[in-house]
Amino acid sequence: MSESTLPGQDVPLFNPFAEGFAENPYPQYARLRDEAPVYEHPLGFWTVTRYADVSALLRSGASVEERNVAPGPLSYLREEVYGDRSPRVGGLSMLDRDPPDHTRLRKLVSKAFTPRSVQALRPRIAELVDGMLDDIAERGRVDLVSVLAFPLPFAVIAEMLGTPPTDHLRVRELSGLLVRSLEPVVDPELLRAIEDANTELGEIAADMIAWKRRNPADDLLTALIGAEEDGDVLDDDELIAQVLLLYIAGHETTVNLLGGGTLALLREPSQYAALVRDPALVPGAVEELLRYDSPVQESRRITLEPMTIDGVEIPKGAFVMAVLASANRDERYWGADADRLRVDREGARHHVSFGAGVHHCLGASLARLEGEVVFERLASRFPGLRLDGDVEWNGRINLRGPAVLPVSTEP
Ligand code: HEM
Repeated sequence: MSESTLPGQDVPLFNPFAEGFAENPYPQYARLRDEAPVYEHPLGFWTVTRYADVSALLRSGASVEERNVAPGPLSYLREEVYGDRSPRVGGLSMLDRDPPDHTRLRKLVSKAFTPRSVQALRPRIAELVDGMLDDIAERGRVDLVSVLAFPLPFAVIAEMLGTPPTDHLRVRELSGLLVRSLEPVVDPELLRAIEDANTELGEIAADMIAWKRRNPADDLLTALIGAEEDGDVLDDDELIAQVLLLYIAGHETTVNLLGGGTLALLREPSQYAALVRDPALVPGAVEELLRYDSPVQESRRITLEPMTIDGVEIPKGAFVMAVLASANRDERYWGADADRLRVDREGARHHVSFGAGVHHCLGASLARLEGEVVFERLASRFPGLRLDGDVEWNGRINLRGPAVLPVSTEP
C-alpha cells in the first residue's frame, strides 16, 4: 500500500471530479488536513492543505513561472493536443512571472493601480449597485448572480480599463473561456477554445492600447501605458498580458465573493440579520465571507528545490497545489468553529483568500470595496432577503461559486 491510499480506500484522497465536490469540497479538504496534509496524488501532483503549510509554501519562493513549462498533472493531454508546444496563456502576466521580472511588472502596474485610485471608485460603485438593486426591487424574485454578482465587478473593471461598451459582450464571453485555464481542463476542444480566446482577447486589448495611445483619458489603461520607473515602461506585449490578467482577476473572482457570500449569509439567517441590525459589522463580514468560502480555492507552485513541509519531503520540480480554501477552514488555526460562519469573527482578515507572499492579490482593496458596498446596501435595502429556489454551482474547482442564485426580496 502506498502512503497516498488509506486502508480500504481505492479512490485518491483528493478527487475533484467526485460527485458533489463542486457543491461542497470541504469534507475532502478536512480529510486531507487530518490524514495527509502534504499529499502526493497518484496523478503526479501534490496538495498542501493546512493553514501554516499553505502560508509557508506561498512565501517560500516556489515558482509560478515554471508552471508554463514544467509538466503539470494534465500535461500528457497538452502534448497530445499541442505537440511540443505548451499553451502559454497569460505567460507574460505578473501572475506567471517570478522575481525579478515579477517585481518589475508589479511595480509598474502598481503605479497605475493605486489605493487612492481604488478608493476614488466608491461613489461610482455605489451608483452601479443602487441601479442593480432598483432592478431587483422591481422584480422581487431574481437570480442574484446574473443581476448583481457578475455584472457589478465586470462593469467596474471594464470601466476602469476604459473598454468601449460595444466590446463588453465579447470580452465577457472571451474572459469566461480564458478563466478556464485556471481549472484542470481535460477536454482537448476546450483547451483549443481557451487558446483561441487568449488570442482574440489579446487582439482586442492591443486595439484598445493603440487607441488609448492616441486618445489618453483618465482611466487605468492610460495610466498603465504611462507607468514608468527609472525610464522603464511596459512594452506592448507586457501591457496586453497585464490587461488580460486585470480583466479576469477583476471579475471572475469577485463574482464568487458576492454570489458565494450572499449564499452563505442567507443559509445562516442569523448572520444576515446581524448585518441588517448593525452595518458597522460589514467590513469584518466581508473578511469572514472571504474566509468561509474562498472565491479562489487554490494556487499552484512548482518547487525549485526539494522542500520539507510538515515532515514530508516534496522533490524539486514538483507541481504543488496550495489549497487556500482548506487553509481557511483549518481548525488548527481557526479553532473548533472553523466551519461556522460568524460575521463578527476576530482576526478573519488573516485568511489566505488573497494568497500570500509576493503574489498577494494586487486587487484586494478593490474586491473588499465592492464587497463592502454590496453587502451594506443589500442588507439595508432588503432586510427580508431569502433564498428562493435551487442554487446551481459553476462547476469550477478553483474559481468556484454559484452560477445561479435565486432569491426573493420579500420574507
Ligand atoms: C493575484 C484572489 C480580486 C488582481 C491574486 C491571488 C489570489 C487572488 C489568491 C494570488 C494567486 C497566486 O498566488 O498564485 C482574489 C480574490 C478576489 C480578487 C479572492 C476577489 C474576491 C481581484 C481584483 C483584481 C485582482 C478585483 C484587480 C482588478 C490581481 C492581480 C494578481 C492577483 C493583478 C496578481 C498579483 C501578482 O502576481 O503579483 N488574487 N483576487 N484581483 N489578483 Fe486577485
